[in-house]
Amino acid sequence: MGYNPRLPLSKESISEQETSLSDANATPVQNDQTAKRKILVTSALPYANGPIHIGHLVEYIQTDVWVRSQHMAGHECYYVCADDTHGTPIMLRAELEGVTPEQLIERVHAEHRADFAGFLIGFDNYYSTNSAENKALSGGIYTRLRDGGMIERRTIEQAFDPVKEMFLPDRYIKGECPRCHAQDQYGDACEHCGATYDPTELINPRSTLSDAAPVRRDSEHFFFRLSACREFLEGWLRGAADQESPLQEESRNKLDEWFEGGLRDWDISRDAPYFGFEIPGEPGKYFYVWLDAPVGYMASFENLCEREGLDFNAFWGPDSDAELHHFIGKDILYFHALFWPAMLHHSGYRTPTRIHVHGFLTVNGKKMSKSRGTFIMARTYLDHLNPEYLRYYFAAKLNNRVEDIDLNLDDFINRVNSDVIGKYINIASRTAGFIHKRFEGELCAALDEIDLAVLRPLQTAAGAIRECYESRRYSEAVRMIMELADQGNAYIAEQAPWTMKGEDQTDRLHKVCTTGINLFRLLTLFLKPVMPKLASEVEAFLLIGPLSWADADSLLLDHDIEPYKHLAQRVDPKAVEAMVEASQSSLPAAQPEPVDEADPDIEPFAETIDIDAFNRVDLRVARVVDASHVDGADKLLRLIVDLGGGEKRQIFAGIKSKYSPGELIGQLTVIIANLAPRKMRFGVSEGMLLAAGPGGEDIWILKPDSGARPGMRIH
Ligand code: 2FM
Ligand code: ZN
Repeated sequence: MGYNPRLPLSKESISEQETSLSDANATPVQNDQTAKRKILVTSALPYANGPIHIGHLVEYIQTDVWVRSQHMAGHECYYVCADDTHGTPIMLRAELEGVTPEQLIERVHAEHRADFAGFLIGFDNYYSTNSAENKALSGGIYTRLRDGGMIERRTIEQAFDPVKEMFLPDRYIKGECPRCHAQDQYGDACEHCGATYDPTELINPRSTLSDAAPVRRDSEHFFFRLSACREFLEGWLRGAADQESPLQEESRNKLDEWFEGGLRDWDISRDAPYFGFEIPGEPGKYFYVWLDAPVGYMASFENLCEREGLDFNAFWGPDSDAELHHFIGKDILYFHALFWPAMLHHSGYRTPTRIHVHGFLTVNGKKMSKSRGTFIMARTYLDHLNPEYLRYYFAAKLNNRVEDIDLNLDDFINRVNSDVIGKYINIASRTAGFIHKRFEGELCAALDEIDLAVLRPLQTAAGAIRECYESRRYSEAVRMIMELADQGNAYIAEQAPWTMKGEDQTDRLHKVCTTGINLFRLLTLFLKPVMPKLASEVEAFLLIGPLSWADADSLLLDHDIEPYKHLAQRVDPKAVEAMVEASQSSLPAAQPEPVDEADPDIEPFAETIDIDAFNRVDLRVARVVDASHVDGADKLLRLIVDLGGGEKRQIFAGIKSKYSPGELIGQLTVIIANLAPRKMRFGVSEGMLLAAGPGGEDIWILKPDSGARPGMRIH
C-alpha cells in the first residue's frame, strides 16, 4: 500500500474546543487524511556492550521524529527496537567485567532504556535479541532457508587461539602488516597503509586475547547462498510497479557496485564458545550475531503483539499490506539491503518497504574524540542540556541523503537560542500575558482579515511541512517553520500590542494577542514531532487535546487558556562547556585512545629515519592509465600507472572509499617505485600510491603541480 501525499485530503475531525476554519473565514486548506496506513518502524539495534552516545542519537531522533509525524496523521504506526546482545565482543566484555553475558546485557538494557527515555524516543517496545521470541523466529527462518536449499555446509580453515581455545575473529588477531610492515595491525586491514588482507598474511600474528600465535584449524560452517539471490534482489531493488524503490539513490548505487563485484555467500555460523543461539540440530554451532540481530526487529514486534493483542502476520506475513520501514546508518547497509531481504523472502516473510539510510555525526567538524571532549555520551548530555534542543538541532540538519551531519557546538547554542527561543517562544511571550491581564484568560471569538492573513500561510504550509517530515527532509521543514515564525514575529512587531493601551484599542489588542496565540499553536503543531515534550506543555497551557496535523485546519477562538508561564530556557554556553569537560574527564586515566577515536587528520609520527634511508625511497610521478574495481575487495582499486618511457606498473591501492576508477584515469599521482613487489590475494602489487588522510571518504591522493611528468623523481 503506497501513501500518496498529493491525494486530495478530506476533513474529518476537528477537536471540539476549536473553531473550524469554515466558521471563521474559511480557507480551502485541509490537513486531515482519511487513508490510514499501517506502519512498522525500526531503528538499528544498539550493541549491548556500551553506552548510547550522541552519534547513535542521530538515528533514534531521526526515526522518532518520523514516527511522531505519522501518529499526528492518525496512522497506525509502531516503533520497535531492542538491544543487540550476541557475539564475541559481548561475551569477552562480560568475562572482563567478571559477570555473565546475561548480567551484562541486563545492566546495559536498563541504561539504554533510560537514555532513550531521556531523549524522548517513543518506542512502542524496546526488547532484547536474547529473547525466547527471537530464538524461535531465528531458528524458524534458518530451518526454512535450510529446507529450501539456501544453506550450504562448507569446511573452512580459520585462526584458532590454542590458549583461549576459541576461533578468532579477524579483529582479535594483530601482527605486522605484510605490505608496509607497520606493527600491531588488525587481521583484516592495515590502518597505516590501508591494505586489506587475510589474517594468514599477517607477519608474526598474535591473538589479542592471549598473545599466543594462532594456529590454523578446520571447522564446518553454514553459508547462506546469497550468490543465488541476485535476481530476486535486483527485482526488489527496482520496487514493485506501483511503488518507489526501497532505497534512496545513493544506496541503490552502492548496491549496484556490490552486484558488479559479485555477491558472496554469507557465513552465518560461529563455533562455541559463543554467546548466541545454538543452531537447531547443530550442537556447538551458533548463529552469527548478524543472523539473529535483524530478526530481533520481528521478535520485538512479536513481543509487542503478545502484550497488546496485535496481529503479527498482518505486518510480517507474505501478503502483508502494512509498511515496513528500517532506519539505519550507512555502515550497515550491506546487512539490511542484501542479506535481510533475501533471508526474509526465502523464508516466507514480507520484505521491507523502505530502508532509510543516514550518514554519521561529526562534532565541530571532526570525528568524535574523547580527548577533545566531543565523544559525548547520551547521559552526559542529559546531565547538562535539554534533550529537545539536540532533537531540534539534528532536525535542522537532517535530510534524506546519506550525508554526514555536523554538530557544531557554537552553532548549536546560536541556533537553538535564536530559533527556538528568539523566534518561536518569543511569539507566546510577547502576546500571551495580555490574555490573562486584560481578557480573563479568554481568546476572542473572531479575527479581522489582517489577522487571518498572517495565519493562513501557516495553515496552507501544514501539508508541505508534513510532507517534508514524511520524506525525511527535516531541515527543509525546520527552515519553513522558522520562516513562518519570522513572518509571525514581523506581524507582532508591526501591530505592537504593548502600545495598545487606550479603550478604543482593546478589541484590536484582543485580536492581535489571539492571533499570536494561534501562531504559537500552529508553530507548536509543526514542531511537535521534533519537540514533543514542549508541545505537550503548550497543549496544557492552551487547554487543548494532543495536536495532530488535522488541527491545522482550525483556529483556536472563543476559548480559555491557562496563564502563561515561561516554557523554555536559553542554552547557557557554560552548560555546553561543562558537558565537554565532563566528556573529557570520563576518559579513563593512562589509557591510550582507541585507534578509531584518534584525531582523523593526524597520525602518530613513525620513528625517525636518516637521510640515507629517505634517499633509498624512490618517489616518482606516475600517470594512472587504467583503474578498475577488484572483485571481492572492499577497499582496493587496481591501478595501472605509467612511469614514463613506457614502463607500466600494477598497484593495488586502498582508496576505493573515496575514488571511483573513472575519475582516476589520466590523473598524475606519486608512487613509491622501488617497493619490493608484493603478492596479494588479488595479484602482485608493484609499488605504492601515496595518499593522505584517515580513510573513508577522507583520502587524498597526492597530485604534483602541473609541469610534472611521469617518471620524474621527487626529492
Ligand atoms: O551496527 C550495529 O550497531 C548493530 N548492532 C546493528 C544491528 S541492526 C539490526 F540488524 F539488528
Ligand atoms: Zn600496512
